[in-house]
Amino acid sequence: MNLSVRYLGLDLPNPLIAGASPMSDHIDTVRRLEDAGAAAIVLRSLFEEQILREQVSAFEHSESHSESFAEALTYFPQPQTFLFGPDEYLEHLRRVKVAVDIPVIASLNGATPGGWLNYPPLIEAAGADALELNLYRLAFDHYLSGQEIEREAVDVVKEVRRAVRIPLSVKLSPFYSSLAQFAGQLDRAGADGLVLFNRFYQPDIDPETLELNRSLYLSDHRELPLRLRWLGALSGQLRASLAVSGGVHNGRDAIKSVMAGAHAVQMVSTLLQHGPERLGAILGEMKDWMAQFEWESLETMRGNMSLKRCPDPAAYERANYVQMLQGWRE
Ligand SMILES: Cc1cc2nc3c(=O)[nH]c(=O)nc-3n(C[C@H](O)[C@H](O)[C@H](O)COP(=O)(O)O)c2cc1C
Repeated sequence: MNLSVRYLGLDLPNPLIAGASPMSDHIDTVRRLEDAGAAAIVLRSLFEEQILREQVSAFEHSESHSESFAEALTYFPQPQTFLFGPDEYLEHLRRVKVAVDIPVIASLNGATPGGWLNYPPLIEAAGADALELNLYRLAFDHYLSGQEIEREAVDVVKEVRRAVRIPLSVKLSPFYSSLAQFAGQLDRAGADGLVLFNRFYQPDIDPETLELNRSLYLSDHRELPLRLRWLGALSGQLRASLAVSGGVHNGRDAIKSVMAGAHAVQMVSTLLQHGPERLGAILGEMKDWMAQFEWESLETMRGNMSLKRCPDPAAYERANYVQMLQGWRE
């Protein structure tokens, strides 16, 4: 049975990747993930604002900086909130690289062109096997169009692409006006992979205390169908490889993701809940399932449930939608 895959141009023995999270913070946990069979690991993200803040304070020592530039950082958590500052991040990356043999993917979270973009070459120099760029951005400006937001994001991807030679993946949210077209733009801008999707941690409102409730909820299976749908829509349409992130909790979820078109399967919540060894159990579940249903390889399975089988995917989706609504009976 062959579980090997090619993701971001990297040959991996299986598709299971430990996604960006605090799991990569400790060398011991990273080794346990490798022992459990993780094909690669994504480090937690370093944020655009962390790099900018460091640049602002370096600048402060020499000249006065613009008020608005500094103000943009006032809501951002203080440096002591982060386990790793920009320099420590590079140091940690070097230590992880020494500790394990599997590919180590660094992660940067940023969405607007700026000074932080001098950082990717440092990540490459520190030994990262690939870079995942998380384009997390909320657009609340009434005058900013979707096109402008997308143009900025594509410019960021182009700039990072020019700056490094290591493979580059882009982690996206599902909230773009025309996701398929945007994915195509990122593909043409040089992204080697797309990660579907970011999760948004919407704060709730506490009406008694008038505070925001910022609890972080881990995912469950219900997050997967959104990913399956978009994997299915993009599968076979792009040069970039595809990874699922969000809602994979067992071997069957991983199989479904591959059938929809995923080359790689990232997991976080289930590993945080059950420990790094859960990854090995999920790999075992995939193998058992493939043996039971007589699948020889993931290569032959990939995309067999994607929308490329349909002559008109949009009409097919719409028909399903109508049928589901009409199927409900009191
Ligand atoms: C505690 C925690 C920390 C995370 N940190 C990051 C991060 O630094 N960068 C990032 O791109 N995603 C981060 N994520 C998101 C995960 O990588 C992943 O996309 C998300 O949890 C969905 O996958 P899951 O359903 O397997 O958990 C984090 C998630 C959790 C739960």
